[in-house]
Amino acid sequence: MTNQPYIITVSSEKGGVGKTTLATNLAVYLKALNEDLPVTLFSFDNHFSVDQMFRIGRGSGEGEVADLFTDRPLQEIVELGEYGVQFIPSSRDLSPLRSRVDRVDILGRILANSGLQGIVIIDTRPDLDVFTQNALFASDRVIVPVKDAPSLENCRNLYAFFDRLQLPRRAIRVLPCLLDSRVHYSGTFKDSYQLLKGYAINRGYRCFEGYIAKSPKVESLNTNPEGRVYPILTHGRGTDVHLQFAHLARQVYLGIRGDDERRLAAIKTAVHDESLRDEAAYLERNSRAHSSCLVCGRSLLADGVVSQAGYFAETSDGRVLGFMHDDCFNQLALTHFHGVAPTSAAEGTLKGFFRESATQAYFVLHRKPGTSGYFRQELSFYRFDQAGLEVSHKSIMLDSLSKSSDLQQLLAATIASADGRLGEEFLLIRKVHSDTPEEILTSGEYAVLQAVGEKIRRQLP
Ligand SMILES: Nc1ncnc2c1ncn2[C@@H]1O[C@H](COP(=O)(O)OP(=O)(O)OP(=O)(O)O)[C@@H](O)[C@H]1O
Ligand SMILES: [Mg+2]
Repeated sequence: MTNQPYIITVSSEKGGVGKTTLATNLAVYLKALNEDLPVTLFSFDNHFSVDQMFRIGRGSGEGEVADLFTDRPLQEIVELGEYGVQFIPSSRDLSPLRSRVDRVDILGRILANSGLQGIVIIDTRPDLDVFTQNALFASDRVIVPVKDAPSLENCRNLYAFFDRLQLPRRAIRVLPCLLDSRVHYSGTFKDSYQLLKGYAINRGYRCFEGYIAKSPKVESLNTNPEGRVYPILTHGRGTDVHLQFAHLARQVYLGIRGDDERRLAAIKTAVHDESLRDEAAYLERNSRAHSSCLVCGRSLLADGVVSQAGYFAETSDGRVLGFMHDDCFNQLALTHFHGVAPTSAAEGTLKGFFRESATQAYFVLHRKPGTSGYFRQELSFYRFDQAGLEVSHKSIMLDSLSKSSDLQQLLAATIASADGRLGEEFLLIRKVHSDTPEEILTSGEYAVLQAVGEKIRRQLP
């Protein structure tokens, strides 16, 4: 048994089907079923119904849902609310976070490390946006309220999302909501509940037993002079919806009791495995990387770590990778491709300029196509921008260069074969932070380098 919480998301792309009413009231009913079970609720919506139902007094005002995606510890943003339910105050606008929340597993990773226990209920916007996707990805149970045939039709995208990410469809349960129990049909389906349930089952969707009827009592709980939203459990006892919610909460609760696995535990394991794989790949790259300068051959190591390196270079087939002194490569580029003599007056200024602009660039050395003959080899030197788009290139004849020149040394160490010929491969060169050169071999940075390298490969002639 894991100590990760059980995550329930209430979701439907259709607006106004009762998601928020369901999420907030379910929290109260679940808490009532087992007072010892922590129940935490938050909403990606900006309607503040959660706050209006649970906030005690003016609240502690410490945090809000947007803070989930910062490094703030969760204890600081979760508030203890009315009816024993914990909640995270709603945020007015989550859109500024979109650039940071660019994957579906971010919320799951955060919750898995949050220390939250018991049950977490997430209310979502009527939209399969990245926040809803994050909630779905982290969920043990997804409740989809449907009020009519069109809203049932909307389930298609949700199931497609589950299929695409290979999540188990059995986590999803449809719940007919806001039904008018006065409407009756003649024929096989006696009322809208039977009809919706029939439609759902026909499509292979699993349903909760029962439904939530449309009730004037529920609507009235939103409107009062105190500006609060009251739960059905405390203010709507004796109504049908009270019985319906109690019945639903029992089903949800039994589902939790009957399920030993927790989605967050699986996410945590996957994250752990991934970081082990990343670590192993980093160590493997690090052990293969040359620790002496690819140009001058002098060691770059200090205390067993590469230091004093200014550039990283890797052949496009990944066979050779290593570092170069800052000066060695700057000098090489200036002399051979910018026509600056090492002793000229302009050298100092130009080197400074080159070094500065190099942080925004990727450099490539590649044989010029059609010059494969032994005596007439031409070498092209490219500069690409941060996005991997070509900025400039220049070609030079290699034959006139002495074997001992710095450029020939670099080629011999990387893309040239033993007889000095250049093949199809190119050499990709990138500036590194001089205090932490090996950082470029960590999976995040290395993945960026690889992606840009791939883009460059497609542009080279
Ligand atoms: N069982 C019910 N009976 C009557 N009215 C209800 C019921 N459930 C919800 N409502 C009302 O219907 C409206 C929409 O409900 P709610 O806000 O819960 O839906 P929602 O799906 O969260 O909407 P949105 O998609 O805009 O977030 C609200 O005014 C709410 O009070
Ligand atoms: Mg809502």
